[in-house]
Amino acid sequence: MTQESGLHRELLLDGLRRELEGLDRDELLWRVRTLQSPSSAHARVDGKSVLVLCSNNYLGLANHPKLKQAAIAATRKYGAGSGSVRVIAGTMDLHVKLESTLADFRGTESSITFQSGYATNLGTIMSLVDERDLIISDELNHGSIIDGCRLTKADRRVYKHKDMGDLEKQLQGTERFRRVLVITDGVFSMDGDIAPLKDIVKLSQEHGAITYVDDRRCPRRERPRNNQSFPSRGKSGR
Ligand SMILES: Cc1ncc(COP(=O)(O)O)c(C=O)c1O
Repeated sequence: MTQESGLHRELLLDGLRRELEGLDRDELLWRVRTLQSPSSAHARVDGKSVLVLCSNNYLGLANHPKLKQAAIAATRKYGAGSGSVRVIAGTMDLHVKLESTLADFRGTESSITFQSGYATNLGTIMSLVDERDLIISDELNHGSIIDGCRLTKADRRVYKHKDMGDLEKQLQGTERFRRVLVITDGVFSMDGDIAPLKDIVKLSQEHGAITYVDDRRCPRRERPRNNQSFPSRGKSGR
């Protein structure tokens, strides 16, 4: 390392240290905790027994005996990893079976699984829209939706939380876009309130827009009949 690059490194580390101290002072420093037991209501975290109120293992599936057996059998047959990401050579018949079972459960023609809700919103939103399109998003949508929108080149508009009058206003003058995507959480993650989905779908349909619902907090078995949330738009039929 040259003297100059060593100096740059010190300056960078100094800056980062000051930022961390600032976050700590403002009580904004996020320390990742270490789980030392299975994920369940009562668990061991950082050496203490605690009641866990923040995990997503709502149904206890992470420790369900049948699922554990299935995971052991799959590891015996396939090993401990798929060898690559799914799009290269890592899609296994297990993934395909899971996705067709989920599609049957939800009553859809197909499904695709991601590792997390965050990855789902990033991967899905960016595959649906580009610079020819518009996203209209509830102001209290989950951060992963906001990041997913930022990754696209689509125009963006935000409507006031659950305010159908404002959504209708934002849907005006959208004819020049190839595709309009109205995005909402199903159950909002901060307040736990519920999106007025019927009204959102109705307004979207009236304006030829697509409704995108993040149902991370409330998976439903039912979905609108006749693909109602995917109405046609203009001559392209999208
Ligand atoms: C509505 C919503 N979308 C996405 C996410 C992100 O999911 P994950 O924590 O699996 O990345 C959450 C997380 O709680 C959420 O509430």
